[in-house]
Amino acid sequence: MTTLTNGASQNRHQIEEAYGSAFLSIIDTIERGDMYGVVTEGPVHSLTEKMNIDTSSRVLDLCCGIGGPARLIAKKYGSEVVGVDISEFNIQEARKRTQQANLSDKVRFQRADVLDLTFKDESFTHVFGCDAWVYIQNKGELYQQAAKLLVADGILGFTDFRVLNPKNTTYWWENIFGTHYIETAETYENLLQTSGFTILDHTDITRMAIDGLVETAGRMIARRDALHANPGPQVYCMMHEFIMTLVHDYIFGNLRHGGYMCKKQQ
Ligand SMILES: C[S@@+](CC[C@H](N)C(=O)[O-])C[C@H]1O[C@@H](n2cnc3c(N)ncnc32)[C@H](O)[C@@H]1O
Repeated sequence: MTTLTNGASQNRHQIEEAYGSAFLSIIDTIERGDMYGVVTEGPVHSLTEKMNIDTSSRVLDLCCGIGGPARLIAKKYGSEVVGVDISEFNIQEARKRTQQANLSDKVRFQRADVLDLTFKDESFTHVFGCDAWVYIQNKGELYQQAAKLLVADGILGFTDFRVLNPKNTTYWWENIFGTHYIETAETYENLLQTSGFTILDHTDITRMAIDGLVETAGRMIARRDALHANPGPQVYCMMHEFIMTLVHDYIFGNLRHGGYMCKKQQ
């Protein structure tokens, strides 16, 4: 197992494979609304409701996957959304699905590492992220970049994993999804504050994460025959075990899930 020091960009091929066609066929077969994260539409709605997004907003979705949350935001609030993801496969799929949803005038995508963005300062009113910044080791750099890209009073909202015990941050899904860096709530909060944000709201959404995962596992079981045909029994079993181990670790272990809403400091 390789230990990487610089976030997901060096880990890109493993990320692309993990979130590639096999993963997508599971998401599609179980009709998971184009959502790649642990949380599904409910928690994304709960977070975005607090973010004051409207038709005049320009939202940046960092690590957008195939664009499920980005399209949800554009459809619900009529805002513009720009999604960025490191995987070419995801970006192509995101564009295709956005065209099919007739949202291409509102939602655009760009392939890039989120630590290496070229947007002008103050280009966005909101920065959003859903269960993905865990891949970035230097979260302070990510938050500082978000602060630069936001207008004065701009809003940062995201959901992500967190751990209770800082000593146990090496996690077991490294083999599937690559190196990742889960921090404690205190670490996220310190980094957000020193990166120029005031935290407006922090909600523990572990219960929602568990409910979403249990529902996902149930849908997988209900469509087991289709999933055994594609992507095949091995991937099916691996994904099932992954989901159930996550549920176990949320209930009995060191893992929790959080939603954050912050405002750029003046
Ligand atoms: C769990 S998925 C979440 C996707 C999306 N937010 C959603 O909820 O559907 C994590 C995503 O992060 C992307 N990713 C990981 N590291 C990245 C990086 N350094 N820059 C851009 N995207 C990255 C992966 O390609 C993957 O699409």
